[in-house]
Amino acid sequence: MSDPAAAVRPSLSADTYRHRRERFLAAIGEGVAVLPAGPELLKSRDTEIPYRQGSDFHYLTGFPEPGAVAVLTPHDAEHRLTLFVRPRDPEREVWNGARAGVEGARERFGADAAYPIEQLDEHLKKLLEPADAVWFSLTGLAGDLEMRVLRLVAGFRGTRPRAGKGPVDVRDPGSVLDAMRLVKEPEEIALMRTAADLAARGHLAVMRAGRPGVGEWELQALLDHTYRSAGAECGTAFPAIVGSGANATTLHYHANSRRIEEGDLVLVDSGAEVGMYCSDITRTFPASGRFSAPQRRVYDIVRASLDAAIGAIHPGAPFSGVHEAARRVLVQGMVDLGLLTGEVDALIESEAFKRFYMHQTSHWLGMDVHDVGMYRDSAGESVDLQPGMVLTVEPGLYIPADADDVPEELRGIGIRLEDDVLVTVDGNEILTRGVPLDADEVERICLGE
Ligand code: GLY
Ligand code: MN
Ligand code: MN
Repeated sequence: MSDPAAAVRPSLSADTYRHRRERFLAAIGEGVAVLPAGPELLKSRDTEIPYRQGSDFHYLTGFPEPGAVAVLTPHDAEHRLTLFVRPRDPEREVWNGARAGVEGARERFGADAAYPIEQLDEHLKKLLEPADAVWFSLTGLAGDLEMRVLRLVAGFRGTRPRAGKGPVDVRDPGSVLDAMRLVKEPEEIALMRTAADLAARGHLAVMRAGRPGVGEWELQALLDHTYRSAGAECGTAFPAIVGSGANATTLHYHANSRRIEEGDLVLVDSGAEVGMYCSDITRTFPASGRFSAPQRRVYDIVRASLDAAIGAIHPGAPFSGVHEAARRVLVQGMVDLGLLTGEVDALIESEAFKRFYMHQTSHWLGMDVHDVGMYRDSAGESVDLQPGMVLTVEPGLYIPADADDVPEELRGIGIRLEDDVLVTVDGNEILTRGVPLDADEVERICLGE
């Protein structure tokens, strides 16, 4: 009979993880990196939130289990990766499923050495000794490992004057890994394409199903169902935002507890996760099938803003230019709608527009929905876009229901549109156009035409 532990495998090729480790090791020089697996989190009492591996840990090892620590040692040509893992345990595995174990870590995850996690302290001091720094992320989420690493560093600080060596600095692995993760490899882009297609499928389903009388929670369930049904590696990237009526003006509305009413707009912000990679789409559609005239005017402004922002995405262009392009169209729209009065430049300068558009237009997208990577360099200048980066573009207009100084027919309208965009060698590619944007097309889908 086959061993169930053999099914615990990395999701990309072993070479992909090895190349990433070599790039990372080259960058940390004489350091040693200590990376814990993502934490297991409790929902309540002894019920856990479904486990998801930490993104950095996955990126460098592909190892899917909790309770593991990776130690990367550039100075040791024979032992680049040491994995400390939960050992095989037939009794526990009956309850919680197969573990790769020490053998699996070596055979299938490219570890040059592997030990039971209980032996970490025994080995860690020796592994750290030759290094000039420990690369360890101080997140506060690694349980007592953080304290144990800091105690070892404190010990080396004490012995270094006589020993002449030993790591006395703690450095942030993110300073190297974030930049690596920011530019996606072809295998990553393929997964992101699949995640984008799946999210588009979910959005099409809710546009068809969302009508007066339906609960916001039912649309959330439909999104979850669509993503999860697509495969074992598929699920939701984050809890969906389904905001009908004035709920659409709450940026991170999560209650999803209202029944949709006649004439409502429904704002749906939802993404799928496929093989650890996320998508993030927002569409806003009319529950009754047709936009009212004021809804349509606001919609078309947000749509024009999205188009302008995507037009600013190409290699060498500043990241900040995307927000600037979106904001200019939105602020002109606010003037045209009678929400603000004055010159566009002055309204941008005074930030008066923030009453109706209070968030940034883009974030990086990858294994994390709000993915890692710098937006500005150390001089405060915007970074430039490069092929392989993926960012969202998500302009919106949010007109509070109680804004009694603005035209009445606009009050309580909230519209956001969000696409995921890959920077390519000669411009950009919108990954999320499997779900329409054009107002007429959205109406056709809502009406089931
Ligand atoms: N779904 C969160 C965001 O759009 O950033
Ligand atoms: Mn979103
Ligand atoms: Mn987003």
